Amino acid sequence: MEIKAEQIKQCAGKPQHVAIILDGNGRWAKQRGLPRTMGHSEGVRNVKEIVTASAEAGIRYLTIYAFSKQNWNRPSDEVGTIMSLLSSTAKREINELHRNNVCLRIIGDKNDLPEEARKILEDGEKLTRDNTLMTLVVALSYSSRDEILRAVRAIARDSRDAKTDPEQIDEALFESRLDTAGIPDPDLVIRTSGEFRISNYLLWQSAYAEFYFAKELWPDFHRQEYYHALLDYTKRERRFGKTSEQVSA
Ligand code: FPP
Repeated sequence: MEIKAEQIKQCAGKPQHVAIILDGNGRWAKQRGLPRTMGHSEGVRNVKEIVTASAEAGIRYLTIYAFSKQNWNRPSDEVGTIMSLLSSTAKREINELHRNNVCLRIIGDKNDLPEEARKILEDGEKLTRDNTLMTLVVALSYSSRDEILRAVRAIARDSRDAKTDPEQIDEALFESRLDTAGIPDPDLVIRTSGEFRISNYLLWQSAYAEFYFAKELWPDFHRQEYYHALLDYTKRERRFGKTSEQVSA
């Protein structure tokens, strides 16, 4: 039976923050005898479908793993195609995000991005900063270990300059130096394409996340498959280290 956006929206136990590892663009193209780059164009089309589906279902934060720091090691023509897709998509879609009251945040090492893409994305972040319907977080040149190391360096510099007492370093202070500062931890992490890996994604932030592994390749992971994952989440019991009895008391 078709799952409607409204059904998820009304559900008190829906996730506040969904983080997705989109995987399988290359295989989607290969299965059809197409170049990998066609898989990435389809992947972008599907990002739009899932962003819309999220906003309609009342999801407050959606994070997508669009490009990892390790993805720079792919063949240079593939990297070039992904970067130009990124610039053209951002140019085309940012105004629409803004019209729909969606806030855009980029996490990852923005310094690695081509100048044009970085400028468009930073302008988009500024333009949409005060939007309140949903926050779309795009992980670009992202590596969780790299993010953690950058935070550690920043805190170490503050300690050296006597701005931070090492004894006062707690989870809240550490989180305030991560790229995701101010964004709540993901409740649900979804990975598509039948692979069971975390791939250096939100390692600190997903300490208590629920995981959902979908067999569909990313371009085939449509609204209904997504809503199925969200409904599955609502049936789980999150205990955060406590017992079931404590949680239900
Ligand atoms: C995943 O499939 C694809 C990537 C990690 C890179 C490309 C991402 C996009 C085109 C989405 C871009 C998003 C925005 C916001 C523009 P894969 O190539 O790893 O697939 P495979 O495992 O089948 O080879």
